[in-house]
Amino acid sequence: MSHITTELNNQCLTIIINRTDKKNALTRDMYQDMADALYDIKDDGNTKVVIIKGAGDCFTAGNDISDFAEQPQNAQVSETAAFMRVLAECKVPVIAQVHGMAVGIGTTLLLHCDFVYATPDTRFVLPFINLGLVPEYASSYLLPKVAGHIKAAEWLMLGEPFTAEDAYQFGLLTKIVAGADIEECVASTARQLVAKPSFSLTQTKALMKGEGERVTQQMNEEFDIFLEALSTPAAKEAFDAFLKKRPINPEKFK
Ligand code: COA
Repeated sequence: MSHITTELNNQCLTIIINRTDKKNALTRDMYQDMADALYDIKDDGNTKVVIIKGAGDCFTAGNDISDFAEQPQNAQVSETAAFMRVLAECKVPVIAQVHGMAVGIGTTLLLHCDFVYATPDTRFVLPFINLGLVPEYASSYLLPKVAGHIKAAEWLMLGEPFTAEDAYQFGLLTKIVAGADIEECVASTARQLVAKPSFSLTQTKALMKGEGERVTQQMNEEFDIFLEALSTPAAKEAFDAFLKKRPINPEKFK
């Protein structure tokens, strides 16, 4: 069964991450399904908005750590890269509807969205440093740009969770919306966007995203370092500790 559900209604594609027993942790198949959904609407000339959200009690717990731990190097990330690249290049506006936890790529991907609504209880975290990894998908460029170097350093170098209030204050969110209202808020924004003329909508986004080459360059640089990091002893120790539900051994995490 696919853990990604898609709905195409009224010129709006909705992608729902639906692997609730694993906190919507993203597997390679799930990335591929999301990439395919975005490829399918890429040039259909009809879809005008994309919504991404999570089922159950959170947005996503990020990349499936067993995928990180088990796959041979290079195999882990091609589907992830396919999804993130097509997301970054998406011509129509993308709305993220976030609640619960947004871990790792669950926060990274928000930097490639145009509207981000989150419930007040949402916790964001970029835990790469605590997994022996590095930032990904241009977040080492986009996050300092959005939030400033000092805040980005705190989030990326300490890897501690931060609140929706913090995320809003530092420019990651459009708005904080109560859980009971977020569905309608997102639907309302989607309806407004669908009512705009297609040419103006896509061209406005294209003009705002004028630094595609810089973002791609950063993604490529991060990609190589991320692959290297995946096979370091520190990363292996962090993955093993998570999967065995044990604390990290500091002797092996240097
Ligand atoms: N990869 C694989 N499995 C994951 C996962 C992930 N990223 N996140 C959660 N799960 C699994 C847990 O192993 C657990 O599986 P089990 O029921 O078979 O034991 C199940 O999802 C529920 O998670 P649990 O940890 O019990 O829920 P929680 O509410 O106590 O904590 C999180 C939620 C998100 C805080 C916690 O699961 C977590 O820290 N996950 C890892 C996040 C992470 O580091 N992601 C990688 C980013 S690069």
